[in-house]
Amino acid sequence: MALNLLMLGPPGAGKGTQAERFARLRGIPKISTGDILREAVHDKTEIGARAKAIMDRGELVSDDVMIGIVRDRLERDDAADGFVLDGFPRNLAQAEALSTMLKSINAPLDAVVAFNVDYAEIARRIAGRRSCPTCGTIYNVHDAGTLGITHCRNCASSSLLVQRPDDNEHTVARRLGVYDEQTRPLIEHYRAQGLLREIDAMGAIAEVEARLRAVLPQCLEGARA
Ligand code: AP5
Repeated sequence: MALNLLMLGPPGAGKGTQAERFARLRGIPKISTGDILREAVHDKTEIGARAKAIMDRGELVSDDVMIGIVRDRLERDDAADGFVLDGFPRNLAQAEALSTMLKSINAPLDAVVAFNVDYAEIARRIAGRRSCPTCGTIYNVHDAGTLGITHCRNCASSSLLVQRPDDNEHTVARRLGVYDEQTRPLIEHYRAQGLLREIDAMGAIAEVEARLRAVLPQCLEGARA
């Protein structure tokens, strides 16, 4: 059974971390618009060049560009059995476009998971986030399991782990403002459609993962052990 999920929440809430785990569990792709844009910046594509300054300011890249990116990605074969969307939609215009796209490929959303985390914890998680510049694996300096590591354990790259350029205090404040103004209204939008599942995303990664699975029992049928 195909499974189409969407993760919604403020920056640093842990959406990407849980989307990755859930997608792996189900054998479906995690589609992160932030990751796609960072790859475009890294590869110095035209979209990447235009997006970089916007991302560095903590603003949203234009709806046209983002809708085109997601449409192309959803049309790839590996999304036929489902997907976990992370970072899209970010506003009502993107949500309407997604709805139209999903209707046209007959792939309705099964659930939208909203992550609830307080702002002090968001600040702590973002300040501690580090990622591998080669494979993108995410770490956190506050995570006891990876305390003190400087290089990626996943791909054994010789490059040092890095901090995202938009993970500085000024840009994070703007990203939170943009979330409150433009993205938070999507919670009520999806609640009205009966799709919303809210989870307490405070606590350890494994605890949040257990809560995520608990609100999606029907979504675990056919999951990998
Ligand atoms: P994007 O990459 O989507 O950033 P974001 O929404 O701000 O989300 P984050 O990646 O910061 O957080 P996350 O919730 O995924 O947290 P994570 O799991 O990494 O977007 C970046 C930019 O791209 C935007 O600002 C915009 O410019 C542009 N963009 C993207 N999509 C767009 C769109 N649709 N339209 C327009 N523009 C768009 O976790 C954070 C840290 O905490 C990690 O270190 C992790 O290890 C740790 N952690 C996770 N869970 C826990 C836990 N339970 N306990 C302790 N630590 C934890």
